[in-house]
Amino acid sequence: MHRQRIVWWAVFAALSAPLAWLGVLAATDGLGANPIEFVTRYLGDWALRALLAALAPTALNILFGWTGAVRLRRMVGLYAFAYAVLHVSSYVVLDQFFDWAAIWADVIKRKYITAGMATVAILSLLAATSWAGAVRRLGAKTWKRLHRGVYAAALLACLHYAWMVKADLTGPALHAAVLAVLLGVRMAAFTKKRLTPLRPR
Ligand code: HEM
Repeated sequence: MHRQRIVWWAVFAALSAPLAWLGVLAATDGLGANPIEFVTRYLGDWALRALLAALAPTALNILFGWTGAVRLRRMVGLYAFAYAVLHVSSYVVLDQFFDWAAIWADVIKRKYITAGMATVAILSLLAATSWAGAVRRLGAKTWKRLHRGVYAAALLACLHYAWMVKADLTGPALHAAVLAVLLGVRMAAFTKKRLTPLRPR
């Protein structure tokens, strides 16, 4: 129990650190020649990293039986949502200056923005139903099905990144590879469970 709490705080600190660092960079004139682009991209990067990290506890549980890791899932997922909201806010406020017509034109014209928007929509739904009461209200089965949407969100976020990048696809490919491993572990466990015949009593 004590160790569990230390791990929780360590993960909390690790996920808060990038935001604190961004604050340091902003305060010390360290955002480079194009600060708006820097901030938007930085927050997008951390939204995607946190989203992939939110899938890791399930994989660790399947592979090594680390049930404790599953308790971190909610906090890490909410961090991914928070970074995504900050990333989108940076785009809406700093990049587009609340020009809703231009934003709408972007959503329709640029498929990477459409994918980003779909990701945020899914993450919002998951964040809104992340509290214990939602599990009771929806029923455990429906809640579980709904929260499998996190894999769709991760897939869309990787597409958003890949479609945004014009030349060097190394970054998107690395993130997609991590997602492929995490999704692969989840699917393998799912298939194994389905194929395992019921033991005769
Ligand atoms: C309405 C939703 C979204 C919008 C409008 C949006 C917008 C953008 C824009 C404009 C950029 C390019 C920044 C630039 O070059 O100046 C970008 C990059 C990026 N976004 Fe989003 N985004 C959205 C959702 C998301 C979500 C939900 C994630 C992850 C969970 C995400 C992850 C990223 C990543 C990883 C990059 C690339 C950063 C880099 O180049 O290092 N975005 N996004």
